[in-house]
Amino acid sequence: MPAATKTDLMVLGAGAAGMICAAEAGKRGLSVTVIDHARAPGEKIRISGGGRCNFTNLHCSPENFLSQNPRFAISALKSFTQHDFIARVKARGITYHEKTLGQLFCDNSAREVIDMLTDDMRTSGVRLELSTKVLEIGHRDALFEIRTSNGTWHAERLVVATGGKSIPKMGATGFGYDIAQQFGHTVTETRAGLVPFTWASHMAESWKALSGVSADVRAECNGASFREAMLLTHRGLSGPAMLQVSSYWRDGDRLQIDLAPDADVTTILKQARSERPKASPWSVLADVLPKRLTQKLEEDLGSGAKRLADMGNAAIEDIADRLHGFGLVPGGTEGYRTAEVTLGGVDTKELNQKTMESRLVPGLYFIGEVVDVTGHLGGHNFQWAWSSGVAAGRFA
Ligand code: FDA
Repeated sequence: MPAATKTDLMVLGAGAAGMICAAEAGKRGLSVTVIDHARAPGEKIRISGGGRCNFTNLHCSPENFLSQNPRFAISALKSFTQHDFIARVKARGITYHEKTLGQLFCDNSAREVIDMLTDDMRTSGVRLELSTKVLEIGHRDALFEIRTSNGTWHAERLVVATGGKSIPKMGATGFGYDIAQQFGHTVTETRAGLVPFTWASHMAESWKALSGVSADVRAECNGASFREAMLLTHRGLSGPAMLQVSSYWRDGDRLQIDLAPDADVTTILKQARSERPKASPWSVLADVLPKRLTQKLEEDLGSGAKRLADMGNAAIEDIADRLHGFGLVPGGTEGYRTAEVTLGGVDTKELNQKTMESRLVPGLYFIGEVVDVTGHLGGHNFQWAWSSGVAAGRFA
């Protein structure tokens, strides 16, 4: 039997969190090894942001995160902020731009972010082992034994950075949650987040004809509200507004959608009634909403009145209420297959918020998406990966 290889720090997962953590720990002079079962590091970074990686958000703050303990993320986010990551991007010469709402994207390619992280690891002397499967993890005499398809390792410290379950086709697994449970940690309920909705069966047939229509809306669910674009698709509802509320949605919940958040529909229709009394309310609304959506709403909500002149104030207000408070119960979501993140994860109650170290097993750390901290759409999830990764890298 070949002897085990020794390393001070073993990081499982060469994703966003694992790579930045490894580089940070390597800078402190530790011998660091990163293991990943994928053939290349940072695969999710590569596909993120349509290939341009929305690597952080100018306005990132603890309010942009969901967790059973919303205060947990504060310390790490403060210790390594979006501005700290932007400074690294700038120093590296990566050019970027703000797309909308503080979201920063590479001008050229997400690969530049991966190259920055892999170069940082190399200069910090980090050893990267790809295409390596972890078979078993043991813990004896304050030493972790990591048995892999590529040999056995002994490490004093173990960082779990294996991400969540979203996009299993790319190698995402629930492995990190299994490790957490093996070491006695609680894993809060996990579910798909930032994910498109599917139509309820009674809506599917008539609504899928509107595939491709988009509108700026305000979408609300369970107290969370987002003012962004909604996209109707063949399968259901997508676009940033829908992805954002999906993280707050549970089976059977109703979505409340203001289809015309910038318009006062009552005033518009009353004014049109005095100026163009022969016009139908729906032809007037076609100036406010996409035409195909207006036609569909007319079919579904049409009051019967053909002309504004025949409508009383109550009928006009009824249409306005329905457009500003359009309610629907989706059939479900597309699940982990297309979700950008996994909600829930390793319970933060059992982790040190400053270092990400387990409160149950000294030397064990959890960072990134595997932890029960999930960001809003717009670069917040990568910021959590950077902040939690650096926190562990500085202390582990
Ligand atoms: P991440 O998933 O990045 O890395 C985990 C690593 O562990 C992977 O390399 C994986 O191969 C490895 N691993 C898993 N199981 C293993 C096992 N059993 N053995 C060994 N290795 C294992 N966020 C954002 O802020 N801006 C954006 O633009 C986007 N865009 C985006 C697009 C798409 C399509 C998706 C799916 C997701 C995003 N995200 C995003 C979310 C973002 O990608 C995500 O939150 C981070 O990648 C999480 O970083 P981690 O390092 O925690 O996990």
